[in-house]
Amino acid sequence: METNRIVEKDPKLKKDDQIVITGAGGFIAGNLVKYFHAKGFTRIRAVDKKPLSEWYLRVPGVESLCLDCSVEANCHPVCEGAVEVYNLAADMGGMGFIERFRIECLRSVLINTHMIEAAYKAGARRYFFSSSACAYNTLLQQDPNVRALKETDAYPAMAERGYGWEKLISEMFCEEYWAERGMKTAIARFHNVYGPNGTWDGGREKAPAAMCRKTIEAIDKKDLRIKMWGDGSQTRSFMYIDDCVKGIDMIMHCDKLIATPINLGTSELVSINELVSKVEKIAGVKLKREYDLSGPRGVAGRNSDNTFIKKMLNWEPNTPLDTGLRATYNWIKEQYETRKKGHRVVE
Ligand SMILES: NC(=O)c1ccc[n+]([C@@H]2O[C@H](COP(=O)([O-])OP(=O)(O)OC[C@H]3O[C@@H](n4cnc5c(N)ncnc54)[C@H](O)[C@@H]3O)[C@@H](O)[C@H]2O)c1
Repeated sequence: METNRIVEKDPKLKKDDQIVITGAGGFIAGNLVKYFHAKGFTRIRAVDKKPLSEWYLRVPGVESLCLDCSVEANCHPVCEGAVEVYNLAADMGGMGFIERFRIECLRSVLINTHMIEAAYKAGARRYFFSSSACAYNTLLQQDPNVRALKETDAYPAMAERGYGWEKLISEMFCEEYWAERGMKTAIARFHNVYGPNGTWDGGREKAPAAMCRKTIEAIDKKDLRIKMWGDGSQTRSFMYIDDCVKGIDMIMHCDKLIATPINLGTSELVSINELVSKVEKIAGVKLKREYDLSGPRGVAGRNSDNTFIKKMLNWEPNTPLDTGLRATYNWIKEQYETRKKGHRVVE
């Protein structure tokens, strides 16, 4: 982005500096809280609009607040005293959710406009925004044998209706808060994140969790069929949660990446059919596939071009899908069995 701003070096981040993480009752931000806590940060404020009893992860000793960040008045106490703000709150879900609830997705712009302003007013040194590969031009994603998406492919813009456009405009806020007001912002475009402690049932789950749950259900019900949306030829890449939180930390603290959108995803492309085959292998079962051609399927193909992240960080997400999927399958199986026994689980 065009700006003549000079990046001044930050004082060293101290372990007792205030860190704010929103969306912390959800999948990625919950894991980010755990990550920073494990790194020894002692003043983390975790925020989500969900009641605390519904958070996937609650980290003991972390200030955990139930507040709606789409309400401006709430964002000021949320950001009070913050040195760093990680804003991951969003109304979102897998394809089934974002194709059906476009208005809800668009309304996340309220969270992002209020949070960035509150972070700025609070004097936060750095602000992180979780964007998405859905911000990319959909016209470039009409073929399952996709060319991987590079950062410049967002413009000319033709983002995913609803969700993708909201991400694009919120990215723009991050760019201008740096250009006009000098707050250091970081923007990562996540490509499908998966792993334990995420949504696995209820309609907001994404493909890896959905395929694991459906397989577990089929085995449990002794009805070895699996329903899939589309013809299974859609291709995607999937990033394991541990890579995602590590990437967030690296991107947030890289001075070369201020106000610069960057892909955070793997470049291991698989079709949904291949994804199901991997789950079958883990579960030790073969399922009859039933394709629902009218189901939401999203773009035909999407992959992350990691040239830029490798150049900037000398790193890219690298957990093999087989490894991450096994951990995810085992976690969902545990949840499924716990729920079956009548115990309460977060879905
Ligand atoms: N999971 C992915 O594959 C993926 C891909 C691209 C981008 N992202 C982005 O990453 C971020 C985190 O996603 P996730 O997968 O953890 O989703 P998630 O649904 O598990 O977590 C989001 C959390 O935000 C909370 N939230 C929603 N509205 C809120 C509000 N007004 N105030 C406070 N909290 C609110 C929700 O209750 C939820 O717990 C989101 O911004 C999402 O758009 C995720």
